[in-house]
Amino acid sequence: MKSQEIRSKFLEFYKSKNHAIVPSSPMVLKNDPTLMFVNAGMVPFKEYFLGQKKIVDARVADSQKCLRVSGKHNDLEEVGKDTYHHTLFEMLGNWSFGDYFKKEAIAWAWELLTEVYKIDKDILYVTIFEGDEKESLEKDTEAYDIWKQYISEDRILLGNKKDNFWEMGAQGPCGPCSEIHIDIRSADEKAKVSGASLVNLDHPHVVEVWNLVFMQFNRKANGSLENLPATHIDTGMGFERLCMALQGVQSNYDTDVFTPIIREIETITNVKYENTEIAGDETDIAIRVIADHVRAVAFSIADGQLPSNTGAGYVIRRILRRAIRYGFTFLNQKEPFIYKLVATLSDQMGDAFPEIKAQEQLARNVIKEEEQSFLKTLEQGLLLLDTMTANAGNKVISGKKVFELKDTYGFPEDLTALVLSEKGLDYNKEEYQEALKQQQDRGRAATAIETDDWNVLIEDDEEEFIGYDTLTADVKLTRYRKVTTKKDGEQYQLVFNMTPFYPEGGGQVGDVGHIETSNGDLIYVVNTKKENNLIIHYAKSLPANLSERFKAVVNKNSRNLSASNHTATHLLHQALRTILGTHVEQKGSLVSPKHLRFDFSHFSKVTSDELQEIEDFVNARIRENLSLVEQRNIPMQQAIDQGAIALFGEKYGDAVRAIKFGQSVELCGGTHVPQTGDIWYFKIKSEGAVASGIRRIEAITNVAVGDYFEDVERNFTDIKQLFKNPKDVVKSVTNLQDENATLKKQIEQLLKEKAENLSGELRNQLQEINGVQFLATKVALDANGIKNLAFALGKDFKNLFLFFASSEKADKAMLTCYISKELAAERGYDAGKVVRELGKLIHGGGGGQNFFATAGGKNPGGIPKALEKAKEYIV
Ligand code: SER
Repeated sequence: MKSQEIRSKFLEFYKSKNHAIVPSSPMVLKNDPTLMFVNAGMVPFKEYFLGQKKIVDARVADSQKCLRVSGKHNDLEEVGKDTYHHTLFEMLGNWSFGDYFKKEAIAWAWELLTEVYKIDKDILYVTIFEGDEKESLEKDTEAYDIWKQYISEDRILLGNKKDNFWEMGAQGPCGPCSEIHIDIRSADEKAKVSGASLVNLDHPHVVEVWNLVFMQFNRKANGSLENLPATHIDTGMGFERLCMALQGVQSNYDTDVFTPIIREIETITNVKYENTEIAGDETDIAIRVIADHVRAVAFSIADGQLPSNTGAGYVIRRILRRAIRYGFTFLNQKEPFIYKLVATLSDQMGDAFPEIKAQEQLARNVIKEEEQSFLKTLEQGLLLLDTMTANAGNKVISGKKVFELKDTYGFPEDLTALVLSEKGLDYNKEEYQEALKQQQDRGRAATAIETDDWNVLIEDDEEEFIGYDTLTADVKLTRYRKVTTKKDGEQYQLVFNMTPFYPEGGGQVGDVGHIETSNGDLIYVVNTKKENNLIIHYAKSLPANLSERFKAVVNKNSRNLSASNHTATHLLHQALRTILGTHVEQKGSLVSPKHLRFDFSHFSKVTSDELQEIEDFVNARIRENLSLVEQRNIPMQQAIDQGAIALFGEKYGDAVRAIKFGQSVELCGGTHVPQTGDIWYFKIKSEGAVASGIRRIEAITNVAVGDYFEDVERNFTDIKQLFKNPKDVVKSVTNLQDENATLKKQIEQLLKEKAENLSGELRNQLQEINGVQFLATKVALDANGIKNLAFALGKDFKNLFLFFASSEKADKAMLTCYISKELAAERGYDAGKVVRELGKLIHGGGGGQNFFATAGGKNPGGIPKALEKAKEYIV
């Protein structure tokens, strides 16, 4: 059965059990401080488990892209070395939100595996949670009793907390689980060792395929467990492993999920995949790593996460660099090639995941550029690492050196660790951490270092945002907690039953303002952010009386300026698509009261004519004074039917808000001006590249434009005054430039004459030493003049040794050495060596060829000594 069919059969099966089938959410998470990537199929549904979001469908199924490369679930080290771990993998899942529980989850999983996929019951094992005394958790006898109806008891195994109590991360929903394992070994092997004894022991052919989690608890920040308001089902089946079992192969990489990419790697690199299963064959490992990593990187880019130097972007960059290095070292690929695999990936996955098709060109470009830039330093870095390892007496490399490699050559720590482990070496991890920490302490002061648990005053997880309609409201505090960060010290996070404060999102910064207590005290809100489903107000203090009603007041001026920039951003987007073409897609945006920044896909520089046209387009829409047409809570399809630009990034269950100004229609949660005329004026400040194929425009609107023009005018007035207020300033500047050019020419001519005169004088000062015409002297010429002088003199001699010093400024010195080519060759003199060595006296350095070299330095005081010592080179 082909992988496409395996995927659809899963979805069809759960559809027949009344599940809503939903598309995969993007892998990169936006509003979750505890997690960077979706690392399990349940992550996009977290709020439903916690009771923080209204349930749309009580039964849902999907195939979710997951990435396990950081935090609690991290498989990166295993990838490629074995045949069944991946960075990106698909997780087939079915969910019950407070609906069915263990009985149905188990019955359906069994029915699907044994009746739909027709897997032989004799190759299946299941596990159940054995309980945990420390946490006062009991054995899951309920699951045991249900399984007994389907499978013989010797195939039901007990599992400990590590394997059979599933947790998403340090905090969040969790519960006991029951895993289904599959034994695909040969009959011979099975006869020798029982499958039951290999379950959960990392055997490549006795692997877990499906995990059924019975969600019952929430793990709190203090480590304790609390019961969830309702029980839920979360199941996750490893799609690639299921394909391995159903396609009768022994490795995930032999399924049709991977074979097209592996064939393409073979064609490009001319290296054959030998299909060795276990660690050892480096070319096979390299091919598996690349086949795996390109999927993770391309899908991240398609989901809007570009490689970068921080956070999620850095994780992606590290994965790609790991793949590049494997290609470089083991497949001898010295030129970019991984980007070429994106086309195959898009062909193969594009139907199930349209985002990869839509973003194929961008993913190719970005990966190619990353490859180019890393390959430039890779060779040097590897050489350095070689030298380091050659000198590693005790087999442990200094952690500081490993850090330097990261800092200077962009070698991520895990990559260096990998290269070292291939050589049987290790490095001092504490030293590395220390060096990293020192750098972080220097550079970054804003890391959150402590977050308390929430103090819940009122059970209300449905905080309503009312800030589209009002900027003030009477509110009640529902929960708060203290957060300590290095940069801001102690702050309080406040959550209300409703709020007019806009939380940072969709590029727009969070609102600022204040909360007024009944006795008139003001608590300032310095920022507002969204975390999962809660809108969090950052305040410096807590109100004295937590249970009274407060007046929440948004700062009107900041909000209006943000709104002005946000509406202008939409008009800019429309202008770009109209003027540059519909290939333009939003890739990032920042909207603050001060300015707006918009990143978009476009493959060449935007010319100044185009920029002018774009600016004019937006200003024309401003002058038309278009009215805002807002539609809230409409289904996504309805918005798209009205022409809204569909952005990948919305997830299942999100009702959308459509914002229309004339022909511009966007899905947007941000705040806007009621009429485009309120923007006043739009002015582009800069245009440039952020990454290959991604451009950035920065612009201002409203009062910022007024300030900008005032500034320009002030400068202009100053310039006019410098020219004594002429009628035509441009003419005055042009005259000045012409005059300057004429003077420059005259100076050049004078200097030439001076050099000629000097040449006559100097010729008389030559001293014959040891068969050499020698002169060391100070001259008052610039670098070019000295060069001309030396070569003019040189024409008449075959045995000339000149050493000139000059100092055009008090803190600048220059040395020049000229030696006739014949003399340099005959006696092995080297002008480069002369200036290098004597350059030290003027606190500088330089070099050149053996017949002509110069050195620059900061210490003219060293000139006399240098002139004196020059003679010593004539031997
Ligand atoms: N959350 C569980 C897992 O990731 C099942 O979906 O294994």
